[in-house]
Amino acid sequence: MHNALESVLKYYEVSNHQLCVGGRPVSEIAAETGTPLYLYDLNVARKKFEMLRAAISGEVDIHYAIKANPHPEVISFFKGLGCGADVASLGELNRALEAGIPVEDIGFAGPGKSRQELEAACRAGIGSLNAESEQELEMANEVAGEVGCKLNIALRINPAFELVASGMRMGGGPKAFGIDQEEIPRVLKKFKEWPNLNFVGFHLFAGSQNLNHDSISDAMRKAFEVFESLLPDCPKPPRFINLGGGFGIPYFAADEELDIYSVGMCLKQLLQTKKEKFSDTKFVVEAGRYLIGEAGLYIAQVQYVKQSRGETFLVLNGGMNHQLAASGNLGQIIKKSYPMALTDRIGCSVTQSCHVVGPLCTPIDSFGKKIELPEVAPTDLLAVFCSGAYGLSSSPLLFLGHEEPRECVFK
Ligand SMILES: Cc1ncc(COP(=O)(O)O)c(C=O)c1O
Repeated sequence: MHNALESVLKYYEVSNHQLCVGGRPVSEIAAETGTPLYLYDLNVARKKFEMLRAAISGEVDIHYAIKANPHPEVISFFKGLGCGADVASLGELNRALEAGIPVEDIGFAGPGKSRQELEAACRAGIGSLNAESEQELEMANEVAGEVGCKLNIALRINPAFELVASGMRMGGGPKAFGIDQEEIPRVLKKFKEWPNLNFVGFHLFAGSQNLNHDSISDAMRKAFEVFESLLPDCPKPPRFINLGGGFGIPYFAADEELDIYSVGMCLKQLLQTKKEKFSDTKFVVEAGRYLIGEAGLYIAQVQYVKQSRGETFLVLNGGMNHQLAASGNLGQIIKKSYPMALTDRIGCSVTQSCHVVGPLCTPIDSFGKKIELPEVAPTDLLAVFCSGAYGLSSSPLLFLGHEEPRECVFK
């Protein structure tokens, strides 16, 4: 049994073996729009938001990480739920502002911000520019002086600890992200030399795609120790601390769902015990894939069912060019397959084992080997689940020059 398939299917309506979105069979939607196609079901995203909102204290704000899925309707949807935004480029900043996210609820991270991006952040009056190096702070001070504003700065900390059991580690050891924890006290003293920078707090994002509540909770406890140790060096009490997140979703056969409730309990306890020390501080968590990952389906059509030396290949009309992550080529070390199913045979008996490949002339264009499926024929539709985050925008669309997939959003 593919745990992730079982886990994601509980968010979807299945009627008469047909996978449905917005009350309609996916096959009916695809017949109108054509394939390949991304479908985003915002009802699923709403459920995920409600799960996160219910788990963590109401005092903690949620920021949507736009890099997960920058579709304007998706950003507007999270804005409507009261989320702020984590942006990582001028393009994302503009999308957040266009969606109407209040500028004070936008944090701008990223290790390579350009002069132009710093200027845009100044002109927008951003809530926090999450600075990742001393050089960036020098440049930010210069640019803010030229624009004639005081730029809100949170220092992104590269902690001394690592987020264990994480799909992607972004803290601990030498890293491109954040300022090394041991350097922070010295950098805090330098705010005196930067008249155009306004210290507002800290940002600590240690890693992503974590399914282990103990390791996330442990990282949060350690992060609080770090913030507490830095309080005496702060030019003024931090008014904002972004705790990161790293909340993962099940993608693979053996993955178990993250116990977000236990993460929330740990955070509540931390806030309770540290209340006095951080009485002026607003805490934030940021999440991308947890909120939107399971809400997205990539739908491709079977072009050919090909036999080769006794094995069956389903050749789809889209592949890694549209959904790179599902092909295992976006940071996976050991290739494992995403949950997949034929859209009109959900729950039908499995009769064969197939290699599912895309149309590109490269062996890396594969969504999985020996995938167990019911009877399948050309024109059947295959859904790749968990495609709502790091899907279209993380894929090499120009590679081999195929048409781009459409995107449809269902509210
Ligand atoms: C700074 C920062 N915030 C948020 C995220 C979003 O992570 P996720 O989509 O896993 O929640 C990332 C992902 O790399 C990140 O680098």
